[in-house]
Amino acid sequence: MIMAFKQAASRFASGVTVVTTRVGEEVYGITCSSFASLSLDPLLVTVSVNAHSPLLGRVRASGCFAISVLHREQREISQYFATRDRGGAREAFDGFPTSLHATGAPVMDGCLSYFDCRLHDVLPGGDHRILVGNVVAAGGDLDGGEPLLYYAGGYRSLESPDRGPDRGEA
Ligand SMILES: Cc1cc2nc3c(=O)[nH]c(=O)nc-3n(C[C@H](O)[C@H](O)[C@H](O)COP(=O)(O)O)c2cc1C
Repeated sequence: MIMAFKQAASRFASGVTVVTTRVGEEVYGITCSSFASLSLDPLLVTVSVNAHSPLLGRVRASGCFAISVLHREQREISQYFATRDRGGAREAFDGFPTSLHATGAPVMDGCLSYFDCRLHDVLPGGDHRILVGNVVAAGGDLDGGEPLLYYAGGYRSLESPDRGPDRGEA
């Protein structure tokens, strides 16, 4: 059953994000595709994080986290932060420049968009924990940038980026 679950879940195409936080001088980040926009009033987003990830304790300590939605050219960032226990650094990530916005959690330079969040809640979710973030700043490159996508266990990119939004018209 777990194989069927994994195969079914792998057929859900998603974007790729890096979730980061800062505690004092230390920064930490992990690659996450479980991002979801949750609420407009208040502005809330969620991301599901493995219960054993060192990120969780750091987010609890800092009370904030940032979500950087990766650009299609940022596959290397995704791979770096998807490596276990690789995500910690003093002050700055080696080779990956970041900028600060509202909370002090680092946002990846060149990302497609970002959400800078204060920690709203941590909810149980089996072997994961659901971070609920109250968005205090957001932004990004909304002029033609293309996302990094993840599907069926591999990285993808859009095939027809110039088609425009599908509004369901007949
Ligand atoms: C495309 C992609 C998406 C991922 N999404 C998540 C996710 O949503 N939540 C999660 O906990 N791990 C996710 N992972 C796995 C973590 O990035 C990986 O386990 C990482 O090593 C965690 O770092 P840590 O050991 O410092 O916690 C994803 C990995 C990839 C490649």
